[in-house]
Amino acid sequence: MVLHRNMGPFDTTAIGLGEMPLTIENNLGPNMGVETIHAALDAGCRQIDTAWAYYCSGGEEQTGEKLVREAMASWDGPKDEVLIATKVGHYRNFTDGKPTWDVDGSPENLIRRAKESALALGVDTIDLLYFHRPDPSIPYGESIEAIKQLVDEGVAREAGVSNASIEQMDIAQEILGDKLIAVQNQYSPIYTETADTLEHAARIGISFVCWSPLGGFRKPKDESKFDPFRAIAERRGVSYQQIVLAWELAKGDHVFVIPGAHRPATILDSLKAGDLELTPEELATLG
Ligand SMILES: NC(=O)c1ccc[n+]([C@@H]2O[C@H](COP(=O)([O-])OP(=O)(O)OC[C@H]3O[C@@H](n4cnc5c(N)ncnc54)[C@H](OP(=O)(O)O)[C@@H]3O)[C@@H](O)[C@H]2O)c1
Repeated sequence: MVLHRNMGPFDTTAIGLGEMPLTIENNLGPNMGVETIHAALDAGCRQIDTAWAYYCSGGEEQTGEKLVREAMASWDGPKDEVLIATKVGHYRNFTDGKPTWDVDGSPENLIRRAKESALALGVDTIDLLYFHRPDPSIPYGESIEAIKQLVDEGVAREAGVSNASIEQMDIAQEILGDKLIAVQNQYSPIYTETADTLEHAARIGISFVCWSPLGGFRKPKDESKFDPFRAIAERRGVSYQQIVLAWELAKGDHVFVIPGAHRPATILDSLKAGDLELTPEELATLG
């Protein structure tokens, strides 16, 4: 069984499926997308992370949320056990001909997009709605007030913030109270700058969800940072990605990971990380 943890009122898996690679640039098509989601669910994964903005720049919007809806509709397992999280506040664009991620955190936009997210997912109420990224042109509290309105109106059951600083987490908790259940920030061996927010999440009683927990797939990364993980993986006969995810999960019981995958094999391997218990010596080596 995949490791379970509590996130707010949800009993879900500590390892979720990051849906983004299935529908942004260089995805392997909708059939592979559905196959990958089904493989994850069949293996016991009970958390899927998507977003309004997971589509190809210039293409049909919300293809990520629509793919999740299609996969859930055609899956014959216990659908009510699956936590589906989505996010609003980003949209796709082009800069100098290259695909980009732009923000619009205005209350009107967040309210409109969240209602579109519920429609695309085919639900009356979104399980968990994140504010995707702060918009520097809008006071943070104003964006969060819109998320609160969405919770009050029943468009979303629970709320989260993403790409948030400690100060922003505190603003969000002040406004949302116990409806704020998670912060989703980048965190991995190549990106530990958010360690302060991981610790703060524990202090204020919310979950910390690591995005790009394996360092991401879009940009070249400093592969040498993974060497200590590779050494332990070799000794244990597992993939180094499992060691990375297990190291992140060992940072606290409030920590979750949402590795991305383009195909079943990678998410099926990642889901096994919850079975690994790293020794104190191994954790000391990894830092
Ligand atoms: N909140 C935000 O602003 C934000 C930003 C970025 C991402 N996210 C979320 O975080 C999720 C994960 O991030 P990500 O997709 O950027 O990167 P990631 O999870 O760090 O890495 C994904 C890559 O790792 C590979 N992989 C995964 N598990 C593996 C395994 N066990 N063995 C070998 N390779 C493995 C995948 O390979 P294959 O391609 O071969 O399957 C994929 O290329 C996204 O899907 C999205 O849901 C959120």
